[in-house]
Amino acid sequence: MIYRSILLFVAVLCTAACQTEKKEINFPKTDLTGVPLIPKPIKTISTGSAFGLDAKTAIFTSNKDAGFEKVGEFLSEQIKSKTGLHVAVNSSTEGTLERLIYINQSDSVDLENPEAYQIYIKKDSILLNAKTAAGAFRGVQTLRQLIPEKSNDTLTDQPMWVIPSGKIIDAPKFEYRGSMLDVARHFFTVEEVKKYIDGLAYYKFNTLHLHLSDDQGWRIEIKSWPKLTEIGGASEVGGGEGGFYTQEQYKDIVAYAADRHITIIPEIDMPGHTNAASLSYPFLHSANAETPRVRTDMKVGYSSFDAKKDTVYSFLDDVVGEIAAITPGPYFHIGGDESHATKKSDYILFIEKVEKIVRKHNKRMVGWNEIAQANLSSGSVIHFWNKPEYALKAAENGSKVIMSPAKKTYLDMKYDSISEYGLDWAGHIPVDIAYKWDPETYVDGLPKQSILGIEAPLWSETISNGTELEYLAFPRLIGYAELGWSPSEHLDWNDYKERLAAQVPYLEAMQINYYPTKLVDWNKE
Ligand code: ACM
Repeated sequence: MIYRSILLFVAVLCTAACQTEKKEINFPKTDLTGVPLIPKPIKTISTGSAFGLDAKTAIFTSNKDAGFEKVGEFLSEQIKSKTGLHVAVNSSTEGTLERLIYINQSDSVDLENPEAYQIYIKKDSILLNAKTAAGAFRGVQTLRQLIPEKSNDTLTDQPMWVIPSGKIIDAPKFEYRGSMLDVARHFFTVEEVKKYIDGLAYYKFNTLHLHLSDDQGWRIEIKSWPKLTEIGGASEVGGGEGGFYTQEQYKDIVAYAADRHITIIPEIDMPGHTNAASLSYPFLHSANAETPRVRTDMKVGYSSFDAKKDTVYSFLDDVVGEIAAITPGPYFHIGGDESHATKKSDYILFIEKVEKIVRKHNKRMVGWNEIAQANLSSGSVIHFWNKPEYALKAAENGSKVIMSPAKKTYLDMKYDSISEYGLDWAGHIPVDIAYKWDPETYVDGLPKQSILGIEAPLWSETISNGTELEYLAFPRLIGYAELGWSPSEHLDWNDYKERLAAQVPYLEAMQINYYPTKLVDWNKE
């Protein structure tokens, strides 16, 4: 099959080349290195010519791996929505075909990283090489960014979108590049989550962590414990009606993310942040914590599960089991932060028991940095947010660390004194401060090889709909995409802010609300 597709590629290329020779297009001189790509690729080389994307272009893909054809279809849909062109995928070549985009599965040693890709752009062809469909998908995001907003209508008798020629070699710095949505303090609809996933995909993120439970609400259907959503799902900060995802809706989000090569990480926060669960089933509640009641305020640290009751662990076995069964990704996040109403010995006992439950359901446990106090398997992952000593302890244990320092990555911190929404307990985080730091050196003494990657969490105490969510996330999220992907030597604020300014047409086309910080000279019409 692979040979057939390569033969087809060569045959089509010949045809395309021969035809184009007849009507040579005089492209203006181009510069691939000048295209404002985010994240910035490892290496970009310009050859000064161009590929003309037009109605005579077709996409072909390797057919060894069905994922490649899906990636081709995704590219075709995106070309349609950006340019209006219909570019067929793997369909017959008769008639008008002159140029070709070929998405090729390659086992080249240069593509060892599963998300690596290479793009070769010539007059008649674009060749995108990747080892995996995930790598091809990341490369397709680069291609989307290479397509100009406007066509050139003077080169031929049809509109043509001129893509600069050259070569791009690329791979991510970190294996984990994520964001988190707190759907517990305020509930966000499936459509709002999908729109966020679209933005993550465009900037090459590969993970979305969903904070599915907290004191103010429980957001995922658990069939064996229905009151969690009947009672625990009916509230949120500020007194709104709350909401929850049925398991079918959650699966829909997981599948939508998977189509974009994004892994969903579910979080059930415990033993603290559990008021909504204990309100639904009072036996879960520890006598040392505040009596459960509907909570719509923003306080933290007053709730706790009872770490000494076997029934609590039977309950958690059901909850983790049901969620794990509909979560194809490798991780399960157990929260573990701010358990101020749990005695330290109880906390450690609890985290160690829950780790066993998570492992029983074949998931790798992730928890906020406090869990490093327990004696954990080196396979569990520590999510750093505020205490460097816990990150260091985790690394000593051989565990991996996800970097979410609150002072740099918390998307719910206000930008500045005049920005709307957000909190300021970790300080203001303007767009430049969000970008100008290095995840590899932020915690003194933390070895690089212990860092799994970076995540930007968005807590939702002050936001209650998609527009407000986007205001806090964009444009800072775009900078975290680059911090997670691009080599450190490419990270330069002055260069980045020019490329960020050039994201306006994308943000406007997608109707993404962003904070128009004065630190950036936005490219508006
Ligand atoms: C956290 O911000 N409590 C993880």
